[in-house]
Amino acid sequence: MDGTTNTFVLGTGSCLPKRVLTNAELEGMVDTSDEWIATRTGIKTRRISGPGEETSHLAAGAARQALHMAGLTAGDIDIILLGTVSSEMSMPSCACLVQKELGAVNAFAFDLNAACSGFLYALDMADAYLKRDPALKIMVIGAETLSSRVNWQDRDTCVLFGDGAGACLVTGSSNGSGMIASKMFSDGRLFDLLCMDSALGMNPELSNYQNQGSFIRMIGRDVFRYAVRAMVSAVEHVLTQSGLTVDDVTLIIPHQANIRIVKSMIERLNVPAEKIYVNIDKYGNTSAASIPLALDEANREGRLQRGDLLLCCAFGSGFTWGATILRW
Ligand code: COA
Repeated sequence: MDGTTNTFVLGTGSCLPKRVLTNAELEGMVDTSDEWIATRTGIKTRRISGPGEETSHLAAGAARQALHMAGLTAGDIDIILLGTVSSEMSMPSCACLVQKELGAVNAFAFDLNAACSGFLYALDMADAYLKRDPALKIMVIGAETLSSRVNWQDRDTCVLFGDGAGACLVTGSSNGSGMIASKMFSDGRLFDLLCMDSALGMNPELSNYQNQGSFIRMIGRDVFRYAVRAMVSAVEHVLTQSGLTVDDVTLIIPHQANIRIVKSMIERLNVPAEKIYVNIDKYGNTSAASIPLALDEANREGRLQRGDLLLCCAFGSGFTWGATILRW
């Protein structure tokens, strides 16, 4: 206990749209099958937002639960950091909409775009703020409604994604618990393997850029390869950084993109499958929401006890990736 300030989780929360979309329903929408989706991705159902379930509302719902678990109120929040690529508005930030909905009048709020790595990036940024002022209470959220950003005619992508939000309320701790290692990475060179254009611009002078529509485009097979390699190397990096081995870790929460990505990681890291938290079967890939959603579920299931080591790793468009270790 060296007096260093670490990011400590006071409470977790999550929020999901009510509507469940099954693989069987997708069979009626594109040329696919329940069998193909389940065996190639591990996904069986995903949640799809309806009216009143926009990204900011899901995010606020998750934040309310995290506040409740922490025994605090919206007025206690100093900063709202929100990872998303699918806010219902381009301006203002989704985080400001969440601030309004919660009544978090003492906070400042902004979004962060690191695609599926958005939550871990936001947690890493919270850690930097807490090193400056350990008393801050920071609401870190990952929230998405990717159902609004997929091309529902494209079977390569529309079967993969889902909507949801997860949140963690964090503050500084100097007793050895909290975030003990974290490292984020990005590489923009291969951005077009997984990307989404903006809404069409109004300046004809800027029309050189070939805008192919504001929905997700992906070369799945290539993304798969990079995702496995990147997450494994990020995990190894933070283990080395903290002087730990994978045997010391109690629970691993990887970004939930594809069960086969998770299985490849299990093999390469030589870790027992029971140590890895998986809920992709229920929610599909919820991008920035996937890790905090899983974290909230694991927490509420009692999978984490004080002192346990939790390792989270993410990968997303950019490419962005990273890993974080927290002593619970
Ligand atoms: N239903 C049925 N068939 C489908 C299909 C679908 N929904 N989507 C693709 N296919 C077909 C392809 O057209 C291809 O057919 P072909 O062999 O006749 O050309 C065949 O299935 C195999 O396609 P392939 O892309 O090689 O499959 P895959 O085993 O790589 O699985 C993904 C595809 C997308 C599931 C997989 O590559 C993946 O998960 N990649 C990572 C995606 C990801 O995680 N993105 C987000 C990162 S944050």
